[in-house]
Amino acid sequence: MVKVLFVCLGNICRSPTAEGVFRDLVEKKGLSSQIITDSAGTGDWHVGKAPDGRAQKAAKTRGYDLSDLRARQAKPKDFVEFDYVLAMDRSNYSNLQSICPAGYEDRLHMFLSFDPDSPEVEVPDPYFGGPAGFDYVLDLVEEASEGLMQDIQRDYQVS
Ligand code: 4NP
Repeated sequence: MVKVLFVCLGNICRSPTAEGVFRDLVEKKGLSSQIITDSAGTGDWHVGKAPDGRAQKAAKTRGYDLSDLRARQAKPKDFVEFDYVLAMDRSNYSNLQSICPAGYEDRLHMFLSFDPDSPEVEVPDPYFGGPAGFDYVLDLVEEASEGLMQDIQRDYQVS
């Protein structure tokens, strides 16, 4: 079993979008019994809430249903449980570094590092902007999800 955790600040925009997109890819490849997905926020303001309505709407337009997801806060134990802890931006990365137990640092990555052709290093926070920001998040996340899947299939012999 390979476990993947997507992390942003609030866990209501970027990381649930990434979870929904990657979960869909896992299902399409018939790997749901081998790859587990989850998401979390470094902050606790939105714990228990469903993804932002704008994120849900943008995702739905591309066929992803985020409605069952609920926000939670990332915790040190996540590094023990998850093989991949994927930060959406540098600030998330740095906050995650500060709660990572010794010996688990190699599980932390910038999510977009799985797309070598990505025009961005960070997934920009769409929370304070318009609908286009949510669409752009989906563009970046769809590409990086493909690269992440290749990485998992290669390193864990999942097929
Ligand atoms: P996310 O977006 O980190 O992609 O979920 C945000 C959600 C909420 C806030 C900031 C970013 N906020 O300040 O409440």
